[in-house]
Amino acid sequence: MDSGVGGLTVVKELVRQLPREKIVYFGDSLRCPYGQRSKEEVLSFTKEIYNFLSRKDIKLFIIACNTATALAISEIRKMIDIPVIGVIKPGSRRALQISDNDNILVLSTRGTMLSHKYKSTIQKINKSAIVTEHACPDFVPLIEAFNYKNDDIRNNVISETLQSVKDTNADTVILGCTHYPLIKQAIDDYFSNEKNIVDSGLETARDVSTLLEFKELLSSNDDEIIHEIYVHGDHQQFEKILNEWMPNFKYTIQSVQL
Ligand code: DGL
Repeated sequence: MDSGVGGLTVVKELVRQLPREKIVYFGDSLRCPYGQRSKEEVLSFTKEIYNFLSRKDIKLFIIACNTATALAISEIRKMIDIPVIGVIKPGSRRALQISDNDNILVLSTRGTMLSHKYKSTIQKINKSAIVTEHACPDFVPLIEAFNYKNDDIRNNVISETLQSVKDTNADTVILGCTHYPLIKQAIDDYFSNEKNIVDSGLETARDVSTLLEFKELLSSNDDEIIHEIYVHGDHQQFEKILNEWMPNFKYTIQSVQL
């Protein structure tokens, strides 16, 4: 699940690494962005979405949204009896692995920033790591509106948002929102291609693979898979981004009301 199209960055990696697994995806486009919402709202939306997906015979629940991971994962884990994977730990671990100076910049929504979940997760592993958390509230609306394909609009939003952290000493930047990999190249270019860029979605797919194997839950299906997409509200814009991001993905899509 995600608030919108962001979780598709996780899906793309899942399909690449685990081609036998069927994905049932829920995008909450109607209530996107989550980044400005309260913990109570995000938790109740995440519960609602889980209840919807639990009727689809799922074996693993991936919260492919940093904001919902930051604000809701512990409560959700207590509530349900299948494994739940979030996106914050995998990205944090990867950043520490590749950073040479243990100085990390985290780009995220406001909700994720205010939760300080990246800082606490990273410093739990390495307490001397320097972590700067920076909110980028205009990135999700830019992406959901498909404006990220317009070079001028995208580059303006990026430079206005990142101006104050351009000269950071961090050598590693975490894309702490699953929408951001859609503008990864432009963010990398903004930092003159001098930083390690960590895509938390990509790292999450590795964790999913390990967990499924460990729990002996890997699928052995050899048939062609038609994935299922559910969009809260209208799915037109969602589908446009989906087709652009994953042109070979086979799916059915349906607008739903919760
Ligand atoms: N993809 C969500 C995340 O990773 C976006 C949150 C939002 O809707 O603001 O946080």
